[in-house]
Formats: sequence, C-alpha cells, structure tokens
Amino acid sequence: MSILVRGAAPYGETPTDVLIADGVVVALGADVPAHPAAADAEVIEAADLILLPGLVDLHTHLREPGREDAETVASGSAAAALGGYTAIFAMPNTEPTADTAGVVEQVLRLGESSGLVDVQPIGAVTVGRKGTQLAELAAMATSAAQVRVFSDDGDCVHDPLLMRRSLEYVKAFDGVIAQHAQEPRLTVGAQMHEGEMSAKLGMTGWPAVAEEAIIARDCLLAEHVDSRLHICHLSTAGSVDVVAAAKARGTKVTAEVTPHHLLLTDRTAVDYDPVFKVNPPLRTDGDIQVLRQALADGVIDIVATDHAPHAVQDKECEWDQAKPGMLGLQTALSVVIRTMVESDLLDWRGVAAVMSENPARIGGLAGHGRPIAVGEPANLVLVDPKATWTVRGADFASLSGNTPFEGMELPGRVVATFLRGRPTVRDGVLAAAVATGGR
Ligand code: DOR
Ligand code: ZN
Repeated sequence: MSILVRGAAPYGETPTDVLIADGVVVALGADVPAHPAAADAEVIEAADLILLPGLVDLHTHLREPGREDAETVASGSAAAALGGYTAIFAMPNTEPTADTAGVVEQVLRLGESSGLVDVQPIGAVTVGRKGTQLAELAAMATSAAQVRVFSDDGDCVHDPLLMRRSLEYVKAFDGVIAQHAQEPRLTVGAQMHEGEMSAKLGMTGWPAVAEEAIIARDCLLAEHVDSRLHICHLSTAGSVDVVAAAKARGTKVTAEVTPHHLLLTDRTAVDYDPVFKVNPPLRTDGDIQVLRQALADGVIDIVATDHAPHAVQDKECEWDQAKPGMLGLQTALSVVIRTMVESDLLDWRGVAAVMSENPARIGGLAGHGRPIAVGEPANLVLVDPKATWTVRGADFASLSGNTPFEGMELPGRVVATFLRGRPTVRDGVLAAAVATGGR
C-alpha cells in the first residue's frame, strides 16, 4: 500500500509532498512523481496541515491486567492513536504488577493485537511496587518486551539503597529509572498542593519540598553511580532548579511535565470536584510559568501525559476517597498548543522534540521519534493547527471519562495518524484495528 500525503508542512515549515510505501517514507517533494510507488498511491490532501513525527508518550496508565473496567490496552491504544500517538509506554501499576517477564510480555502482546500504537511496557523497580525488594529487572530487559524503562510510579522508590541498586543495575542494558518523586513521610494523607488554597479549603497539603527533596537525592545518586534517571511528572518551580543544577553538573537526568501541570492550578480544587485530584497535585500559577519556560529551555525534556483513567465510582465520590489521576492522551497535543505554541515558547520543531523525539530517545524506542526523511519509518501525525474543538469526555475512546478539560475549547485537531505507513486515524476517526506484530 502506498500513500501520498500532498502539501503538508513538515514541522510547520515549507509544504511538500510525502510518499509512503511499505511502512517507510520513500520520497519527498520533487522526487515523488518519479518514484514507482507514486503511480497507484492513495492521495491524502493535506494543504494547511502540519506533519510531525508520531507522538510518543513515556507515561501512560493502561489498566490491563486487572482493571479492564477503567481501561484496556485496546481502548487506551485507540485513545492514543486519536491523540496523534504512535507509541506509548505502559506504566506497571496494574493488577498484578508488571514486575516479571510474564506480565510485561502479556502487555506487549495485547498491544500488538490491538495494533493501533506500539505499546512498550515499563517494568516495576520493586516486587509488587512495594519498595522492599528489587524486581527481576534483567529478566524483563531480556524478555520479548525488551524493557528499558523501570518505574514504581504511583509510589516513590523511597529507600535510597534500593534506588541506588536499581540505578546501578540498569546500566548493564542502558536502562533508566523513572522516579515518581514523592517523599512519603512529608505527604501522609496529602490531598492537594500545600499552600494558600489548601489552607482555605481545609485539606491536607502536599508540599513542593516533598518532590524536590527526592529529586535532589536521586540526582546525586545518579551522578554517584553514573546512571540514567528520569523524573516523572515534575510539578514545581523548585524541582526545575534542582534538575537544572544537576544537568549543569553533567548528571544523566531527564524530566517530564504533564499537560495538566502546564495549564491547571490548585484553584481548580475550590469546588472539591475530584476530577482535579491528581498526584503530584496541581500547583500554582507561578509554578506553571516556570514549568513552561523550563520546557522551552530544555531543562524539562518532554511532555508525558500521565494518562490515568479511573472508573466512575473511583472519581465521582468524596475528594479524599477519590483516586488521583486524569485522562491525557486525547488532549495532550491541544494543551501543548494552547500553553506552548500559542505563547511562542515552542515552534513545531520544538513540539516534535518534546512530544516525539526526546521521549523515544529516553525510552530507547528505535523506530519512533525519527526525522521525516527518506528511508525512515512512516510513524507520522497530521495536525490541523487552525481547527478548534470542545472537549467531551463521553466521546473519548477511553473507557473512563475523567478529563479535567471537560467543556473547554482547545486548539489543534489530529486529522490522521500513521503507524508504519498504515493510517490508524483518518479524518479524525479511528481506522479499523489490524495486528502489527512488532516494532
Ligand atoms: O495521579 C496519578 N495517578 N498519579 C500517579 O502517580 C498514579 C496515577 C494512577 O495510576 O492513577
Ligand atoms: Zn503515573
């Protein structure tokens, strides 16, 4: 099957024609007509659309195995494709925990059979994510899932000795430890950001220092053992300072920010609506400004969704009973356009870097986040930058509806997504799923 994408603007730059055949980009621009695959290519008219490398999410929660009522690998994959993603990394806080070769291979297979995005399993750092005993990291690394990213996300790897050991261990296969930075003793019973709002609302606060202290400790540990550390969902201005200082010292640390931490503040808690409950919590306007600037400057390397679907009964209840987390896959690109592109903090090259190239590199995913160039895998997304749409959680492919952006009008629409040359989304609608079998 060959496809001619006509007149799209790669990275928002000069429009050109892109010919895709056998899963790769085979010709660009003036070279297209002469290529043998051009003759019977299906044409997609893409004038005024922007072409980017397919998005890569380093932080997605699928709820399979265990909570298939909230999300399955298939439903999360559909949400991802509709959001412009061609690859997602699945967090291991499932039931059972993805802490063995068997479970990560199960997630990999489920991803392959839904065939809408590449699903790359993340392995747990400790057995059952309990923080007491290292999981079999090497067995997961050498399994069919070829795990390179390990995380106890949802919980912090709090024991400094286990953190050190895991950092040392993953060096053997160029792995990375993705830390959920939360000092547990400083956040006992925490419900929201500790500050004026928490005082006003009478909720137990989650202080910024509980994140910053762990990031500082782990940057020092990563430097000490010369290993790779990744900071999940960095949320405070102080954390930006810590990461910037560590990078200046040459520490191998990378960091992510979520779309919700780029747009929403702790003021959303005013009506006690648990759709705004998330961990780490939404912070202040001041934090948001620093996070945006850090993403533009490269102190923060990537945007990751922390897509966290939850069943109705786990969200539509009392705030303190509700589970933390919010949907992200189908709104991430639009929120990045709103917060980073419209403010001129990032151009489309920058969007490609923070939402595709950098996450693929950090996660060690070879076929994604590649340049739009001849010979490269055709993992691509076509975006209409002028379109706007209104968020309706009920319309999402996700099995859960807990979006904090409900009713908001957001810019940018995903028109088409291509996984190795095959459209997974066309005209903003999901194409029929086909098993892909491999990266
Ligand atoms: O808000 C969150 N939800 N933060 C986490 O770290 C875990 C996640 C989840 O799994 O729901
Ligand atoms: Zn998470």
